[in-house]
Amino acid sequence: MSDDQNNNNNNNNVKEIIKKQPVVDKNILNLLSSMNVDKNAAHAFWDTQPVPKIDAQVEKSGPIEVKTLDDVRKEPLTLPALFEWVVLDVNDQVQLNDVYTLLNENYVEDDDNMFRFDYSIPFLKWALQPPHYLKDWHIGVRVKESKKLVAFISAIPATINVDKTDSVKMVEINFLCVHKKLREKRLAPVLIKEITRRVNLQNIWQAAYTAGIVLPKPVASCRYYHRSLNPKKLVECKFSSLPPRVSMSLLIKLNRVEENTKCPGIRPLTKADVPSATRLLAKYLSQYSLAPSMSEEEVWHWLAPQKNVMDCYVVVDPKTGEVTDMCSFYTLPSSVIGNPKHKTLKAAFSFYNIATSVPLVDLMADALHLAKKGDFDVFNCLDIFENSKFIKEHKFQPGDGNLQYYLYNYATQTKDPSAMGLVLL
Ligand SMILES: CC(C)(COP(=O)(O)OP(=O)(O)OC[C@H]1O[C@@H](n2cnc3c(N)ncnc32)[C@H](O)[C@@H]1OP(=O)(O)O)[C@@H](O)C(=O)NCCC(=O)NCCS
Repeated sequence: MSDDQNNNNNNNNVKEIIKKQPVVDKNILNLLSSMNVDKNAAHAFWDTQPVPKIDAQVEKSGPIEVKTLDDVRKEPLTLPALFEWVVLDVNDQVQLNDVYTLLNENYVEDDDNMFRFDYSIPFLKWALQPPHYLKDWHIGVRVKESKKLVAFISAIPATINVDKTDSVKMVEINFLCVHKKLREKRLAPVLIKEITRRVNLQNIWQAAYTAGIVLPKPVASCRYYHRSLNPKKLVECKFSSLPPRVSMSLLIKLNRVEENTKCPGIRPLTKADVPSATRLLAKYLSQYSLAPSMSEEEVWHWLAPQKNVMDCYVVVDPKTGEVTDMCSFYTLPSSVIGNPKHKTLKAAFSFYNIATSVPLVDLMADALHLAKKGDFDVFNCLDIFENSKFIKEHKFQPGDGNLQYYLYNYATQTKDPSAMGLVLL
């Protein structure tokens, strides 16, 4: 049986189990509710954490609190008795599938609950296992009796340059998810505290994370932009609407991409390009106030082309062999909720784009052309990097989603989106 068939069977089994039995019984729900803290506080949890208050004016960059390993609790946070902590081994197909299913059914939705991110299994494996990842940082909560996975949170290591001067070893937190039936019971703070504890045990005290919601306190508030590649499908899914007095055929015409690539010799990144691509990235990212610093090993991990996960294309100077330009995007489909015709939207998310020998708009015209060729329905980007230089020209439309960037235990001045050089998956 292929991995895919295995996954499908597994998915079906899990779906059957969910249908047959409630996720947890009423007693557990009551127990969890009793863990509630002062609901009147603005941020009962975040107000206890080393993050700047929402109205704080940060004068000086740096850690908010300094602790040592002696200050770190040695045993896991306490969970209600019917739940247990587990470490998810994402090399194990069944456990990886459990994570996939939890996220596929419970992860981020748009405000109108019409779309839900559907991170694929290969994507999750890639996103959770960069160089020097720690298995211990892939944390789940299972119901003890049924072993059902009901919550997840992850951390991966990263070096982030802050304000162009400080190189900070930190983690990127991602895939925080609590099953829909266990929401608003203060389980998320327990997950956040537990991952913080495990990260602290490795002598790491800072983290970067993003969220759609506003918490204390964003480093930057960014906005999503969307470029239609398959306008008919996007309208049918109600992702976008037909503008007044515009026919479908006109909309299709308006959203055509270039028939051919514009950048001479543009081709997929290869391993041989990595030393040069790493230099190009380091130089490019040095102009941003918040940006990763990546080793060659990390560059290859994050940018190696992988079907339905990562697309990365480069232009190489034929004389020197140096990579002069790069465009990249990752594949993140969304489930279309309750649409009779379409089950999934295939979205490309802009990653790192650097133009030195060609105009940035030409490089991005190629990115759009290549995404269309790859059968993507939409190309998304944030207004970070220099993206605002091509957003208008390439007919991106503002979305209703915002994305806030945060740092844990590191105060720094609020930044414009254009000062941000970091993409979290
Ligand atoms: C995000 C999620 C885990 C929060 O769980 P919940 O059951 O809604 O909230 P809980 O009662 O457990 O906890 C509430 C606390 O978590 C905080 N919180 C909620 N979402 C958060 C987020 N994305 N990041 C950090 N903290 C968050 C709340 O601000 C609140 O703390 P406060 O009182 O200090 O403000 C849950 O809503 C979920 O799985 N949503 C779908 C996936 C998702 O959006 N994940 C986050 C991606 S950034």
